[in-house]
Amino acid sequence: MANERRTFFIETFGCQMNDHDSEIMAQLLTGSYRPVLNVNDADIVLVNTCSIREKAEQKAMSLLGCLKIIKKDKPHMVIGIVGCVAQQEGKKILSRLPYVDLVMGTQNLYNLPALLGEIIHNHKRIAAVEQSAAFEIPPYLPEVDKGSVHKRFVTIMQGCNNFCTYCVVPFTRGREISRKFKDIIAEVRHLAAHGVREITLLGQNVNSYGRDLKSGQTGFAELLRAAAEVEGLKRLRFTTSNPRDLNDELIQCFADLDILCPHFHLPVQSGANSILKRMNRKYSIETYLDLVRRLRAARPDIAITTDIIVGFPGESEDDFQATMNLVANVRYHGAYSFKYSDRPQARSTAFTGKLSEEVKGERLARLQKRIGQIVMARNQEYTGKNYEVMVEGRNKSRPDQWFGRTASNHIVNFTGAKSLQAGQIIDVKVIEACQHSLRGILR
Ligand code: 5AD
Ligand code: SF4
Repeated sequence: MANERRTFFIETFGCQMNDHDSEIMAQLLTGSYRPVLNVNDADIVLVNTCSIREKAEQKAMSLLGCLKIIKKDKPHMVIGIVGCVAQQEGKKILSRLPYVDLVMGTQNLYNLPALLGEIIHNHKRIAAVEQSAAFEIPPYLPEVDKGSVHKRFVTIMQGCNNFCTYCVVPFTRGREISRKFKDIIAEVRHLAAHGVREITLLGQNVNSYGRDLKSGQTGFAELLRAAAEVEGLKRLRFTTSNPRDLNDELIQCFADLDILCPHFHLPVQSGANSILKRMNRKYSIETYLDLVRRLRAARPDIAITTDIIVGFPGESEDDFQATMNLVANVRYHGAYSFKYSDRPQARSTAFTGKLSEEVKGERLARLQKRIGQIVMARNQEYTGKNYEVMVEGRNKSRPDQWFGRTASNHIVNFTGAKSLQAGQIIDVKVIEACQHSLRGILR
């Protein structure tokens, strides 16, 4: 089969970092291979995996089970496991899953075309999972057809040094490695010059950007300020942060930079200090609440969202109540909540005081109910007011309806427009709050 005619399909699980890695992989492959929308039409299938929680890993594994069956009728099909599960399990996967041809870890992304070439032409099975402290995120200028996309991610760092006791990321993504300042700004400029209007700076722990760079001149706040200057850009976002590394310079950016969107995802994980300590989070609820207060003082319209784990080993009913009190106190604009699960290599896997699935499930349900009420009340605060909305597209089943996002990251479904372009910023009056979105009309 000629190279040009081979097709590929990438399935992605996990975080925005993974979404972005899949985007990069697709770009690296397009040219030599052709993307298809259906796994059954693909000669190469890459499963970009996540191992943050047990459930995420199970989803990837069940897709692999389906691929095994498809491959029985299509023996030439190349199956690759990439991303965090690949990094975590390494070579073992090749012996355990004989139908898998490629296991590729998180630092090997840019070698994908060469690895696939070896597999296809030399009929090899490969595990490429080396990690090195000397790894550098390469300069990368993605191809963008002018005006074809209005928002993009830009990687600013990889890995994490925080070692929260429940977390697999320091093992799957390695230690923190910041990308060079000039490479990041070059990519932002390149994207803006091609019509990209919104950029999200990406890293597992963006607040500690630059700590490992020898030049020593740049922290995350300086990076944000430089990105904010790039001509053509309308919105700047970032994700994700650990409260322990949130400093005054970053808070000040929210006061100074209009382009920086008033949304902060600030994972708290638990409302109880004793649990935060056992999680190795290195902040107390008091310091967390102070950060929330200072962020709101710097930018009164800021929407704060969070992540919460329920049922961490040793979590008592009182600890859980502290989390319930915290969400009521902060009144989050959104919150993701999860049942604690043991992860390979994470220290908490060996902790005592594990809770039953039943207790974890029951606490999660109570928490999610409370969060739902708070988020709905927050959404109602937006009704009757006008907001700038960046257009994303038209609703497929309701052609009179469009959707877009406020700077605070709320999805708004709106009517009253005939013809709009994705990326255009328009004024919308919000007329109704729903649980997961707002409804409005074009002004
Ligand atoms: N169990 C449950 N949730 C977890 N998270 C990370 N590790 C675990 C785990 N072992 C959650 C945290 C994190 C989010 C991305 O996933 O809340 O912020
Ligand atoms: Fe999942 Fe974390 Fe890996 Fe992202 S970095 S894919 S959340 S394990």
